[in-house]
Amino acid sequence: MADPFRIRPATLADATRLAELERSCFSDPWSDSAIREALGMPGALALVAEVSDRIVSYCLSRRVLVSAEVLTIGTEGGARRLGIARRIMEELIDRLVAEGVEEIWLEVRESNQGALQLYHALGFRPAGMRRAYYRSPTEDALVLRLALSEGA
Ligand SMILES: CC(C)(COP(=O)(O)OP(=O)(O)OC[C@H]1O[C@@H](n2cnc3c(N)ncnc32)[C@H](O)[C@@H]1OP(=O)(O)O)[C@@H](O)C(=O)NCCC(=O)NCCS
Repeated sequence: MADPFRIRPATLADATRLAELERSCFSDPWSDSAIREALGMPGALALVAEVSDRIVSYCLSRRVLVSAEVLTIGTEGGARRLGIARRIMEELIDRLVAEGVEEIWLEVRESNQGALQLYHALGFRPAGMRRAYYRSPTEDALVLRLALSEGA
């Protein structure tokens, strides 16, 4: 069955909605200007999922040579556990592989069990830890890595 949502690349015109979603998803959200800046960075790739033209989920990434980093990802409260973040991440990974990316990195709060399950199912594995990386509340970050090519 076709997805009940549509995934497409984000544009600068989406920045205000992404900042709104970011505030609804995180206690230490990226600001409007940080999101705008991230969308315009060299190597930036952002995807959104829409239901009836309303953005309900998003992710922002940045590629440098053969490595990429997922900078932020979130799904609106009312649209969670429908598989949307998984599909966005799968689409992101496909697009990054097509661009020659060999590894993807991300950080996640160590208490964020839902996100950890999602990343584990996609093949991300623990690669390190950053002490007191997050604010509001202060918390360690687990660093996860997805190897996309043999030997990466
Ligand atoms: C984490 C988040 C992005 C997941 O978005 P989502 O669209 O609900 O995720 P999906 O429906 O695609 O979930 C895919 C799988 O991830 C896991 N998962 C997602 N949320 C989960 C939760 N709250 N508890 C347990 N497992 C969860 C499950 O394995 C799920 O598969 P299942 O529903 O078949 O069991 C969303 O909860 C969110 O926006 N949270 C706040 C922001 C955040 O924490 N972002 C990640 C920062 S690193």
